[in-house]
Amino acid sequence: MRKRYTAADLGVFTREEATRFVPRGDGDPRNDVVLAWELLYRLEPELYDRLSRAERLHPGILGWLPCGVDRIAEVGAGTGRLTMELLDRGRSVVAVEPALALRRILRRKLAAADHGDRVRVVHGFFDQLPLPDDFADLVVACSAFTPAPGHGGEAGLAEMERVCRPGGCVAIIWPNHLGWLATRGYRHVSFPGAMSVEFGSYQEAVELAEIFYPKAADEVRRLGRRTVPFEVVGINPPRDLAFKVLALTGGKGRGRR
Ligand SMILES: C[S@@+](CC[C@H](N)C(=O)[O-])C[C@H]1O[C@@H](n2cnc3c(N)ncnc32)[C@H](O)[C@@H]1O
Repeated sequence: MRKRYTAADLGVFTREEATRFVPRGDGDPRNDVVLAWELLYRLEPELYDRLSRAERLHPGILGWLPCGVDRIAEVGAGTGRLTMELLDRGRSVVAVEPALALRRILRRKLAAADHGDRVRVVHGFFDQLPLPDDFADLVVACSAFTPAPGHGGEAGLAEMERVCRPGGCVAIIWPNHLGWLATRGYRHVSFPGAMSVEFGSYQEAVELAEIFYPKAADEVRRLGRRTVPFEVVGINPPRDLAFKVLALTGGKGRGRR
């Protein structure tokens, strides 16, 4: 991934995106893998979608999420790894996603899905959600929120809590900074059991491993299978979530934006 893009590709960002992802204006995706991922979403969105289809969430996470709620807001929805699982859980879902190329893929999937009309896909960022106060019963992000200001941070977490109704739940799925979230009142749940990346075929496993987990590519070839344990690819499996149920009265700090 670090070699895939160069600084010349940064021109794909809109002004709003550049403010968040290259705030000093001089980023280099060869030295900054987070920036390389943002370029992937915009330059090769179908490639990202293939990876996210293979890295499936632990079924315990899907079982844990509330059912039968009125409104759900998802932030950083991408191509819908989680969004597609939310369709039957809420009367309506708003999927917020900044990258136009990912929104297009998500809309295509929703158009093909039963009840896809319950979902509105909108442009937006963690730190400026285009939703009113107390909007949703569940506000969720999957593999998207980090403490870094460009990818959420304090302002992003405050925004997620602002749009969550009192008594509702804010959930961060596949969190990467549990300690940071714990100090902000988030509890941790982890679901046990072996987990594998489930590629569509052995050929796809090799192709995507060379791009996304190059250190594991030889081992993926040696295994000769389409399913590869997460320990082999060397990333933590999507088995965790952090959540906070907001107080019913008084504690939201209205206007904290
Ligand atoms: C690893 S992808 C995860 C996408 C999807 N949730 C999934 O699980 O496949 C990270 C997502 O966060 C989005 N993202 C990055 N920065 C963001 C920001 N500041 N506000 C909202 N979304 C952001 C990206 O565009 C991308 O869709």
